[in-house]
Amino acid sequence: MSDHDIERVKTGIPGLDELIEGGFPRGDTILIAGKAGTGKSILATQFIYKGATEYNEPGVFVTLEEPPHLIKRNMIRFGMDLEKLVNEKKISIVDLSPSKEVTPVTIGEYPSFDLSGLEAIILNHVKKLGAKRVVLDTLSILAYKFRSRDILREEFFKLTANITRSGVTLLLTSEIPAQQGGLGVFDIEAFLASGVIVLYNEKISDTSRSRSIEVLKLRGSKHSSRIHSMRITDEGIRVWPGEISPGH
Ligand SMILES: Nc1ncnc2c1ncn2[C@@H]1O[C@H](COP(=O)(O)OP(=O)(O)O)[C@@H](O)[C@H]1O
Ligand SMILES: [Mg+2]
Repeated sequence: MSDHDIERVKTGIPGLDELIEGGFPRGDTILIAGKAGTGKSILATQFIYKGATEYNEPGVFVTLEEPPHLIKRNMIRFGMDLEKLVNEKKISIVDLSPSKEVTPVTIGEYPSFDLSGLEAIILNHVKKLGAKRVVLDTLSILAYKFRSRDILREEFFKLTANITRSGVTLLLTSEIPAQQGGLGVFDIEAFLASGVIVLYNEKISDTSRSRSIEVLKLRGSKHSSRIHSMRITDEGIRVWPGEISPGH
């Protein structure tokens, strides 16, 4: 590796790293966007799992949507035992799902206009674990709590900058509303991220859909500009770098 090369963080998702010159640039903020059910949470969880099991990179998974027991149950179907990694202190799952009673002490000002409470929780977990990867699933839940786009942009910017400052690679998920042509708050989220990956599950005939993945942007990378086939297999998400999606 020469001094000019950007250090890469392997996603460990089969086929994906080949599309992005080996992985995400270390310390970057990457947005995984897509409509509901396109595989954002699975991809993000797989990123944390692979980091901890294959690359010696502990990870923190912050869930604002699904409760941890459901995430664990879904991932064990792919042979990914998150519970074991939690016990081994290789990952932590921070439960900020709606089912959880959040105490004002731990969560700070959330859900007001201030995300510093959330930031403190995340950084605390990062420090305890020596984490190199952080996932926030999903940013959209936070975004809906803000009325002002300016404050939203500012708070998100502070949050992402402070998490990645120490070289942590941050993955955010963002839900694109089903009925919307435009992208809603997605433009603000995309503005924050140095990389944007979009997942699709498009109807290709009256009776079938086809999953695909697109690298919309990735800082400092000669990434693929095609839309590639993706499947959710028994081992989780897999991308076919040589296969262009039939839906596009
Ligand atoms: N074991 C599995 N095998 C195949 N597909 C699955 C499996 N588990 C979930 N899926 C698919 O993944 C979708 C959910 O993925 P998820 O990452 O939660 O979506 P998102 O976070 O984008 O809403 C489900 O709707 C289903 O289509
Ligand atoms: Mg999800």
